[in-house]
Amino acid sequence: MSRKSSRIPGFYRLGVDQRREQLAGRGGPTVDDMAALDDGGIDLEAADGMIENVIGTFALPMGVAPNFVINGVDYVVPMVIEEPSVVAAASYAARMVRDGGGFTAEVTRPVMIGQVQITGVADPDGAVRRITDPAAADQVLASARALSPRLCDRGGGPVGVRARVLSRPGDPDGGMVVAHVLVDCRDAMGANLVNSIAEGVADELAALAGGDVGLRILSNLSDERTVHITARVPDASLRGAGGGSGADVRAAIVAASRFAELDPYRAATHNKGIMNGIDAVLLATANDWRGVEAGAHAYAARSGSYRPLAVWRDDDGTLTGTLDIPMAVGTVGGALQAHAGAVLALALLAVRDARTLAAVAASAGLASNLAALRALATDGIQRGHMSLHARVVARAAGATGDLIDRVAAEIAAIGDVKPDRAREILARLRETELASSLTLKEIP
Ligand code: MEV
Repeated sequence: MSRKSSRIPGFYRLGVDQRREQLAGRGGPTVDDMAALDDGGIDLEAADGMIENVIGTFALPMGVAPNFVINGVDYVVPMVIEEPSVVAAASYAARMVRDGGGFTAEVTRPVMIGQVQITGVADPDGAVRRITDPAAADQVLASARALSPRLCDRGGGPVGVRARVLSRPGDPDGGMVVAHVLVDCRDAMGANLVNSIAEGVADELAALAGGDVGLRILSNLSDERTVHITARVPDASLRGAGGGSGADVRAAIVAASRFAELDPYRAATHNKGIMNGIDAVLLATANDWRGVEAGAHAYAARSGSYRPLAVWRDDDGTLTGTLDIPMAVGTVGGALQAHAGAVLALALLAVRDARTLAAVAASAGLASNLAALRALATDGIQRGHMSLHARVVARAAGATGDLIDRVAAEIAAIGDVKPDRAREILARLRETELASSLTLKEIP
C-alpha cells in the first residue's frame, strides 16, 4: 500500500460509512474488508475457539486517529476503547507533534525474558557463577535453540543466559536463584515460545545450580524490549489553549510533568493517560494489553519509587516529550489471526512487524499524554469532554450533517447537554432553515 498523508481534515464530521470510504480511498483495506467490523470483528465460531465456555461476543467501538507521523512515515492509527475523548485527543496531539516533525521512535531488539526459579540451592553465588560461565551458558543456549528451530530460522531465538541470587541458605526463603533466558521473538509477542523454552531448559539450569526447578514462565517486565519515543511541539501549535500563549502552555505542561515526577499519586494518573492510547492500539490489534500494562507499571517503579513513563521538558524553547516503556507486542500469533478486526487494524496501519507496531502504540501513548497534560494544564479536561459528549447527545437527538455541530455547540454553550434540550434546539434550527429556504425561493 502506498502511503498517503495521515492528515484527513474533517474526518470526525463524517458518518461511519463515509469514514470507511475515506480510509478505503487510501489504498489499504476496502469498504468490504471493513464490513468485518459489523459484527465486532469476530464471529461466534471464532470466539468459541478462542476461550472457554463462550456464550457470545462483546464489542467495543473502533475508531481511528489520523495525523500520526512516526519516523517520517504517516499512520492512521486504529484504536479500540470505550472512553470518549481518547481518540480525539490522540488525533489532536498527533497533529501538534506533526507540526514539530512527528514522533521519533527507537525500538530495541524484540528480546523477551524467560524466568526459571531454582530453589534449595546450597551455594547460590556458586550457582550463578556456574550458570553464567560462558561454556555452560552456551550449552544452555544450544539446548534452547534446539527447542525453537523455526524462530531461529527467522533470525530470532535464544540470545543470552543470566542469573541472580534471590536469597541465601539461612534466609527465610532458603537458597534461591533465578535464571533468565533471553529470547529474540521477532514479530511474535512470544509468550508461548518463551514459556516453552523456559520449561525446556529448566532441568539443565537447576542441575548447574544444584537446586530444584520452581516456576518457569516469561517475565512481563520485558525491559529488554523497549521503545523510546521523542516528540517536539512548536509553541505555535500549543497556542490557544485557555487563551494562553504557546510559551505559557509549554511552561504549564512542563510543570505538569514535574508534578508527576515528584508525586506517585499524580504519576499513576499521568501513566494511566499514556496507557489510554497504548491499550487502545493493543486492543485493536488483539495484543496482550494486560502484559504490557504489567510491564509498564513495573518499569515505572524500577528506580524504587513509582515514576512517570513520559516526561516533558522545555528544550531551548521547544516543548519536548520522551516516553520510555517496555512494549511486548506481536504482529503474528496469539489471538491476532483469529480476530478479523485485529487483522483489519494491522492492514489499516499497513504494519507487518512487531517493532513498528511497538513504535505506533507507544507514540499513541505519548500523544494521549500530551493531549491530557495540555488540557489539564490549561482549560481542564471537562470542557473538551463536554463538547465531545454534546456531539453524541446532538446525534442521539436526531441531528445530522452540520446540524450535529450546531446543536452540540448550543447545548455545550448553555451548559445543558441533555437530549431534550438538544431536540428543542434541533427543531428550532430546522424550522429556521426551512423558513430561510422558503424565503430564498420566493426571491425572483
Ligand atoms: C483519563 O482517562 C486520563 C487522564 O486522567 C490522564 C491524566 O490525568 O494525565 C486525563
